[in-house]
Amino acid sequence: MVFKIKTFIKDLTVGQKIDDIFVIKGKQMVPYSSKPNEYYLKFTLADASGEASGRIWQGVFSLNEVIEDGYPYRIRGSVVEFKGALQVNVDDLAKVAPEDVRAEDFIAAGPYSTKDLDRRLTDLIESLPKSSGLTLLRKIFGDEKIRSSFLLWPAATSVHHNWLGGLCQHSLEVAELCQFLARTYNLSMSLVTVGALLHDIGKLREYQFTGAAFTLTDEGKLNGHMQLGLEMILPYLSGLDPIEAASIKHIILAHHGKKEWGSPVVPQTPEAYAVFLADYTSSKLVRIKSVLEGVTSGWSDYDRFLETSLFSGQSDRGDLGSLFDDFE
Ligand SMILES: [Fe+2]
Ligand SMILES: [Fe+2]
Repeated sequence: MVFKIKTFIKDLTVGQKIDDIFVIKGKQMVPYSSKPNEYYLKFTLADASGEASGRIWQGVFSLNEVIEDGYPYRIRGSVVEFKGALQVNVDDLAKVAPEDVRAEDFIAAGPYSTKDLDRRLTDLIESLPKSSGLTLLRKIFGDEKIRSSFLLWPAATSVHHNWLGGLCQHSLEVAELCQFLARTYNLSMSLVTVGALLHDIGKLREYQFTGAAFTLTDEGKLNGHMQLGLEMILPYLSGLDPIEAASIKHIILAHHGKKEWGSPVVPQTPEAYAVFLADYTSSKLVRIKSVLEGVTSGWSDYDRFLETSLFSGQSDRGDLGSLFDDFE
């Protein structure tokens, strides 16, 4: 049974009784200053709306053994005020399985709704001319399990598109850029679209939803999303011409562009080069925009992924600002 949060943390009020799902983080045993050898449990409760402080006062030794940090729990208790902040005193709690919680209750939403992404994905696939590529995409994204995860998963755990629906949003951006490149440079429209939509499909196995966050899976750490993507699409390639199948696999393996960036082969077809460039563009520009978010003037902090700090466009010389109005 899937639980839906009734009252989000940002809406909790003093005096309220709660029976809801929250993630427990940062659990620690704290000794009472007044009672020797006695402890209470202190932790943070979190959902997508924010965080609140939580306490357990009774039976803490056994509970400390069983409570796992970073997982969702059904929590019964009451909201009190302590030193001017909300605090949840927990009377009773039980672990909830990851498949029984809604990811959107715990992970930040992206800029597009699932419905929008779903429609854009269908439109993009159906825009293709009749081809083996169109048939392949209809089959893969017609698989309900693949499609629903693809619409939900982030594209990364940090760095870029690390929100719900980020994988689909990023793949659509790459596909749309590739279609532009295909028109401009007369490339195969079906091949770039197939390659773009499938280039990161292995992330569905590289990451797992724990109920509170997306984390790397063991096979993700061991083999990475290019290898996992190949394994996922292999059964769907069986009816294809061998060179077509090899060209699709090549796009997946080459999409990081360089061996030192994690690709076992460099792009060796125009379509593979287009997917690499579009992937690079989508990840960098979205990162750039998120680094600049909230920077209203001057320079951002140094960003490790971009290896630079960024100029917001609003310097002390106010006249520069207007040049950048369109960037919003
Ligand atoms: Fe990738
Ligand atoms: Fe990508």
